[in-house]
Amino acid sequence: MPASRIASFTPSIFAEMSRLAAEHQAINLGQGFPDFDGPEEIKAAAMEAIHNGENQYAQSPGQPVLRQAIAAHAQRFYGQAVNPDTEVTVTCGASEALLCAILGLVNPGDEVIVFEPCFDVYVPDILMAGGVPRFVPLRAPDWHIDYAELSAAFNNRTRLILVNTPHNPTGKIFSPADFQQIAALCEQWNTLIISDEVYEHLVYDDARHARLALAPGLAERTLTISSQGKTFSFTGWKTGWAIAPPALTDAVRRVHQFSTFASATPFHSAAARALALPDAYYQTLRADYTARRDFLAEVLHDCGLRFVTPPGTYFIMADFSALGFDDDVKFCRWLTTEIGVAAIPPSAFYSDAHKPLGQHYARFAFCKKMETLEKAAERLQRIKTGSASM
Ligand SMILES: Cc1ncc(COP(=O)(O)O)c(C=O)c1O
Repeated sequence: MPASRIASFTPSIFAEMSRLAAEHQAINLGQGFPDFDGPEEIKAAAMEAIHNGENQYAQSPGQPVLRQAIAAHAQRFYGQAVNPDTEVTVTCGASEALLCAILGLVNPGDEVIVFEPCFDVYVPDILMAGGVPRFVPLRAPDWHIDYAELSAAFNNRTRLILVNTPHNPTGKIFSPADFQQIAALCEQWNTLIISDEVYEHLVYDDARHARLALAPGLAERTLTISSQGKTFSFTGWKTGWAIAPPALTDAVRRVHQFSTFASATPFHSAAARALALPDAYYQTLRADYTARRDFLAEVLHDCGLRFVTPPGTYFIMADFSALGFDDDVKFCRWLTTEIGVAAIPPSAFYSDAHKPLGQHYARFAFCKKMETLEKAAERLQRIKTGSASM
């Protein structure tokens, strides 16, 4: 009998779709992890750390070498001055940073604003803290914020707003106007901000990622969360972090010390080396992902799916309604079992009231080798004939 706090939690949609994909030997464009490894020299750095005896507990806030590298990276890419001793906490992936920040800052009954669709850990984290999620849907086709709806979600119980830019699953990058609106409302209602920026380096074409904490007036109320998983293609290393002013860092660290205490030590040195890779690494990453995105976008368009090409992340959220389906779970099951390509039904990323907003979409991940995407493309051709016989 689970505790009442978690009684509503159901198995994650990722696990279900991955199981179905394996059962049907489908190409898995569902769960967002690369089917390739990150740089060899960073793997070597992790192995070197193990050989060098970096094998006992890390310092609870993170090894100094990684906290310094996180601060240096923030300065290098955003001009953000960060004190590695008082403003950085290394966690077991961005996921643990999110949980520590939410448990550390939300009191029972506090409201937390979440944009939908949203990464599936946000709501359970809020519920575990005893908080009350307030949902503001992003509006298709370009996933813009309806500022009137956003404004109406704030009140004097609003403790926190969760922002994710670039945004999973839509690929939206929050604009300067979005930042301005959010800043004004957070100042008006004295609300804290968690800005989840794990896709910070996955931005394409002319798009630029901006750090929300640097928008005017937000430095003291914003926690920035990121991790090495997406940027360096080592999602399994689960090395993430929270950057926040000392008072907010204190809240994160209090939870962290009594939950995991510390994350895996050898990856601290390796992640530090990764963050310091030269600009060429980051440029190549972006160029490679641009090519993968463009390839998959063309294939999906050609199959009759509709979407605005995403400026960020490694996801395409595509509207399949022209194919005659009207339910995302059914469509994704059909795609997996009949076409042999797995995708994620995004209604799982919406509250019950807003699920219809996601039910004509499927989320495809393009963080895959070109040969994987090419194989998926061959199979997706069958949609053109298959949709007739669904
Ligand atoms: C928006 C978002 N935040 C956080 C995470 C979790 O990151 P990590 O693997 O570092 O815990 C993910 C992973 O998919 C994500 O998409």
